[in-house]
Amino acid sequence: MKLMIAGGAGYIGSVLSPMLQARGHEVDVVDLCWFGNQLPSDIPVTRRDLFTVVPEDLEAYDQLIFLAGLSNDPMAEFDPAMNFIHNGALPAYLAFRAKQAGLSRFIYASSCSVYGYTVDTLYDEESPAVCAYPYGISKLLGERGVLQEQSEHFSAIALRQGTVNGYSPRMRFDLIVNTMFKTAVTEKKIRVNHPDIWRPLIDVRDTAEAFVRAVEAPAEVSGVFNVAYDNFTIGDVAKAVRKEVESIYGIQVEIEMNRIADLRNYKVSSEKARAQLGFNPRFGIAEMVQSLAGHRDAYGDFIKREFYNIQVFKALAADA
Ligand SMILES: NC(=O)c1ccc[n+]([C@@H]2O[C@H](COP(=O)([O-])OP(=O)(O)OC[C@H]3O[C@@H](n4cnc5c(N)ncnc54)[C@H](O)[C@@H]3O)[C@@H](O)[C@H]2O)c1
Repeated sequence: MKLMIAGGAGYIGSVLSPMLQARGHEVDVVDLCWFGNQLPSDIPVTRRDLFTVVPEDLEAYDQLIFLAGLSNDPMAEFDPAMNFIHNGALPAYLAFRAKQAGLSRFIYASSCSVYGYTVDTLYDEESPAVCAYPYGISKLLGERGVLQEQSEHFSAIALRQGTVNGYSPRMRFDLIVNTMFKTAVTEKKIRVNHPDIWRPLIDVRDTAEAFVRAVEAPAEVSGVFNVAYDNFTIGDVAKAVRKEVESIYGIQVEIEMNRIADLRNYKVSSEKARAQLGFNPRFGIAEMVQSLAGHRDAYGDFIKREFYNIQVFKALAADA
């Protein structure tokens, strides 16, 4: 399969792109490289704004995977207009162009953040997706723009990912387990905003595997799929990270419990992805922490600006 990976130089793309290549797919990345490019040198990367892509650029491909846009709440809140344009309009535009160019499938990196603040029940893909913050609304907009292109010859898949964690060559330390790992190691402390809030989590290796499953799914598969390893309260995430860090480094880690209100609270079921895509996540919180600890030589001392999306984004805005 020949694949364009839009936003493939980011955190997820830097794990997914080599994985797809290793499975025999031909991979081209198109990315503005806001956070640099840590992809292996044999993966072609075109530094380009995806809004400039036209059907002639797409004709050679079988599928397009969309991993671009603004990928967290702080970025979305810093520049809500750009957030709606990059997360809402851009995937809709590219899906429209991909269908025009005759591609067979478009896979959209959606987010469980579309579920907003829910009651404590397990949400599946039929549950209401209602949220009240720019990032979640824009991911839902992008998803709808992509899915409405679905037709007999054009498969549209949206993977609603839980919060992704663990090591990637393009490292992020603004994700829940990664942040807790960092402060546990550097300050011997983990800060919890609210211990009772629920979040689905997934390791970046399992996330990449979910995208591979989507690429290789039969042509008739389309639709929305939740993808998470499991659901955890933030308090339990902190305890699991502490346990693993204490065991690896032989240190004692304090947990600071706060009760700061959150706009997001959701638990999701990934049964549909298991049944229809063969999604079978393997890595829990202990394995996420082990992967972070095992790669400390690769990312160094946690302080590079590129590890924090909002810092890079503010610098880009200041330079514009
Ligand atoms: N990381 C998570 O926890 C998570 C969870 C759910 C959903 N998602 C979604 O998955 C996708 C990938 O997440 P990530 O963590 O890898 O993000 P990331 O921020 O690491 O990567 C995004 C990449 O997209 C590129 N990009 C953005 N706009 C572009 C444009 N107009 N043209 C070309 N390139 C552009 C950036 O340069 C960057 O390399 C995002 O759409 C995000 O919303 C991420």
